[in-house]
Amino acid sequence: MAYTILFPDSRSDPLDIEREVARPDVAELVNARKDRFDAIDEATWARADAVIVRFMPIDSKVIALMKKARIVVRNGVGFDVIDLKATGEAGIPACNVPDYGTTEVADSAIAMMMTFARGTAALDAALRNDLKGGWTHVHNVTARRLRGATYGVIGLGRIGTASALRARAFGMNVAFYDPVLPNGSELAFGFTRARTLNELLGMADVVTIHAPLNESTRAIINDAAVAAMKPGAYLINTARGPICDTAALLTGLKSGKLAAVGLDVLPKEPASTADPLVAAWQANEPWIRGRMLLNPHAAFFSPNSLADLRRKAIETAYDYLRDGKLANCVNAEYLKKPR
Ligand code: NAI
Repeated sequence: MAYTILFPDSRSDPLDIEREVARPDVAELVNARKDRFDAIDEATWARADAVIVRFMPIDSKVIALMKKARIVVRNGVGFDVIDLKATGEAGIPACNVPDYGTTEVADSAIAMMMTFARGTAALDAALRNDLKGGWTHVHNVTARRLRGATYGVIGLGRIGTASALRARAFGMNVAFYDPVLPNGSELAFGFTRARTLNELLGMADVVTIHAPLNESTRAIINDAAVAAMKPGAYLINTARGPICDTAALLTGLKSGKLAAVGLDVLPKEPASTADPLVAAWQANEPWIRGRMLLNPHAAFFSPNSLADLRRKAIETAYDYLRDGKLANCVNAEYLKKPR
């Protein structure tokens, strides 16, 4: 049986890793490389047996075009681009790839914390700008001792746990807020459990977000949350942009309540100066200089993690199409009668 797998917005060209996995079934792999679903013709959607999506929203409009698709795989961990209910009601399992870049994202969160604590980027930038005037520690405006400080994790899942274990190796105390984890997880890890978000924010010197984007996490870091944080705390978000209200981060940085903000993700990607926080960072205004790091949603990336991701995504699709073996299904609660 030859299957057609549609990659509506893949940036991988050629699909060599995917082809290697798919070879036994002489499948057709369609790399559409579009950003909008309506830029792909309806016949292409209609003949796809599986769809492997990067960031294109899979909502009811596009699901209506998927006449025979039996599975949608999100090429990544977060699956907020997929309408879980609509896919489920259409009988299409939605799956993610939970196990490809866990350590890379954890490392990125730690890298941002370390960059602030030791001032490596700010000191380098000051020195590059002025060799003589930059030869001083004073440009490290976010310096702090990490040993004995509290690392506060929002969402103690795979990545949150990996980042917490790294922080512990720096002599930090670890606290977390995760309303979904069963009681007792705190005992197994030896971490302090906060029962509310505000409790965590009030005890953490570094707050790092590793929760999924869903209705329980959208904009949870807002003005009230910043107000609840410890003065001089760092806020790091490598999860999803809409979890943080960037206006609140701007106010927090400007007032000095927050010492530093590290973002790999933004509510609107790619970054634009239409967001005043991004504009201030890009203008390198004196009050924000050395206190903000912005990365282009790249925490997942290493050559190894990308290869793992691509292989695992197509394996997930293939295992289901060929053998009916379903892995990492994230819309099981809505999945009525699989096609
Ligand atoms: P996971 O599912 O293992 O962990 C998420 C944790 O968040 C779970 O323990 C869950 O109980 C918890 N959680 C759920 N709702 C919560 C809430 N309201 N408050 C606090 N905690 C809550 O997922 P994993 O693999 O650790 O990934 C976490 C997130 O990281 C993904 O959802 C994704 O959005 C993001 N991510 C970002 C990447 C990047 O390149 N920047 C790459 C990979 C993932």
